[in-house]
Amino acid sequence: MGFNVYVTRAIPEPGPAILRRACQVVDVNPQDAVLTRAELLQAVAGRHGLVVTGQDRIDREALDAAGDALRAVANYAVGYDNVDLPAMTARGIGFSNTPDVLTEATADLTWALLLSAARRIAEGDRFVRSGRWQGWGPMQMLGLDVAGRTLGIVGAGRIGCAVARRSVGFGMEVLYANRSPRPELERQCGARRTNLDGLLMRSDFVTVHLPLTEQTRHIIGGKELALMKPTAVLVNTSRGPVVDEEALAVALREGRIAAAGLDVFEAEPTVHPELLRLDNIVLVPHLGSATHETRAKMGEVAAGCLVAMLKGECPPQCLNPEVFRGP
Ligand code: DGY
Repeated sequence: MGFNVYVTRAIPEPGPAILRRACQVVDVNPQDAVLTRAELLQAVAGRHGLVVTGQDRIDREALDAAGDALRAVANYAVGYDNVDLPAMTARGIGFSNTPDVLTEATADLTWALLLSAARRIAEGDRFVRSGRWQGWGPMQMLGLDVAGRTLGIVGAGRIGCAVARRSVGFGMEVLYANRSPRPELERQCGARRTNLDGLLMRSDFVTVHLPLTEQTRHIIGGKELALMKPTAVLVNTSRGPVVDEEALAVALREGRIAAAGLDVFEAEPTVHPELLRLDNIVLVPHLGSATHETRAKMGEVAAGCLVAMLKGECPPQCLNPEVFRGP
């Protein structure tokens, strides 16, 4: 069968080559921009398969626009809060994401933010470029020690565990809050499981690695920030809405916590204007998986999964394997 697929955003090779080898039609959004809703609804019509990004909302309306031919959707992302998975499953449409291949890159970026926030790297860079630097000073731009402190991991999935593993070199105590225990993490890093409140109260660095769901939306809000130490740092590389940005801006402005590092935002690409005014927060534009190697692997996985699902096979990254089970 000649598959007709659409890719909502140009992705690096080898993803496109994999699609071209297996499909008759491979159309790719020609602009380096997220499709508008109207463009998306038009582009998906009549396709057998879609490769989409976390910025594309694939809900019932989009599935209706695609029509009955749609058999498979591959997310070029590990997070999948952008799609209505039950609706796809109900229609017999296979869905996959890109776990594993971006774990290490995202853990690295988490540490980059943690260290930047603790040691005021972005602020220092702005200071040097401003031309106002007069030379070394004993009291100049003092930050926070990282080695030997306590790291709190909220959500000990693949990425949370990879972040924790990196802390061994810093001789840190590791706490984690997770629905289920992680014996391997406890063995590897001496990590101890605790509830969220306990973690927030005892950690010097709190890093969030949760999927976005109705239960995790604003899981870090004013009450949780108030539990943190005034010297603590918050890092979020998961999904923006798990942190209440308004409450975070107040906590940072009033010195209720020391600093923060964000890779993700509540309404990307908009950033809360109060956060933009603060010096004690490092802001980067959703770069967690943004390395050449990782983005190439994500494309390879997404394209490979799409082709497999179009052929009626169930790849390991498929999140609704029931679609591929026989009657
Ligand atoms: C992911 O993979 O979920 C990243 O956030 C990119 O969208």
